[in-house]
Amino acid sequence: MARHFVLNTGAKMPSVGLGTWQSDPGVVGEAVYAAVKAGYRHIDCARIYDNEKEVGLALKKLFEEGVVKRGDLFITSKLWCDQHAPDDVPVALDESLNDLQLEYLDLYLIHSPFSVKKGSSIGNPENYVTLNIPATWAAMEKLHDAGKARAIGVSNFASKKLGDLLAVARIPPAVDQVECHPVWQQTKLHSFCQSTGVHLSAYSPLGSPGSTWSNGNVLKEPVVISIAEKLGKTPAQVALRWNIQMGHSVLPKSVSEERIKQNLDVYDWSIPDDLLAKFSEIKQTRLQMGKFIVNKDSVYKTLEELWDGEI
Ligand code: A2P
Repeated sequence: MARHFVLNTGAKMPSVGLGTWQSDPGVVGEAVYAAVKAGYRHIDCARIYDNEKEVGLALKKLFEEGVVKRGDLFITSKLWCDQHAPDDVPVALDESLNDLQLEYLDLYLIHSPFSVKKGSSIGNPENYVTLNIPATWAAMEKLHDAGKARAIGVSNFASKKLGDLLAVARIPPAVDQVECHPVWQQTKLHSFCQSTGVHLSAYSPLGSPGSTWSNGNVLKEPVVISIAEKLGKTPAQVALRWNIQMGHSVLPKSVSEERIKQNLDVYDWSIPDDLLAKFSEIKQTRLQMGKFIVNKDSVYKTLEELWDGEI
């Protein structure tokens, strides 16, 4: 199994990237440093994670020490929901580049398909404003033209929204980054991405155990545990390997050096077909519900509208 997937831009995206969501300040830099030393070449960041400055310092140290060159790394960041106005998009990218101390990103994503007033939080329905994906996307395309974002894409887009974007895009999105793991396998989006050449990248590939945002734990799923026991691997490795065999890159977050290493040890073995078939027995539940933005006053009145609807 190759250690990367090829995007529709022709770029190679390493199939395991270090997730940095919910990595606290003071530890995220060390995690990035340890990950790159351990062989990671892909780091997934976002403006809203509020830790890009520290990630940037770690990258600078790695470059200065000659551990890697910029061209060997694949760095992603994401446009937050309060900067969707076309004039704000290049400003937002520059803010991320500035903190990350980089000249360009390998991938820049629209973080989520909803917009809030500039500077406001997503927790209050009164902050929501009408989303204009084509206008935001056109601004993203300009960043690609300028070479500041070598690939552009989206995150948290269900098939319908992704299809609507593909219909108007001059540059098709390279990636849709969504929650994906054995307990939420994204079968519909997987097929849609396969048929349209959009790469599916999996966040929360372990189900984000312990996170207050998550209501479940992939690592306690009996099918995953029994396959791990049969293969002599950990449940985390089996969950990650499942995604990779589905053709999805994975973005496991860890701040523990031992688990960072464990999560990269997913290449020189595989889940055989008879065991792979067992994943279809797992009851499907979305763990990252995003429930907090669904209410009668929000643009999203139901979960279906949020994840599969036309809004
Ligand atoms: P930690 O950072 O202490 O290692 P996800 O990537 O799905 O969001 O999951 C991240 C969570 O899973 C974090 O709490 C992380 O804890 C934990 N984690 C990461 N790797 C492993 C692993 N190999 N085994 C068990 N837990 C892990």
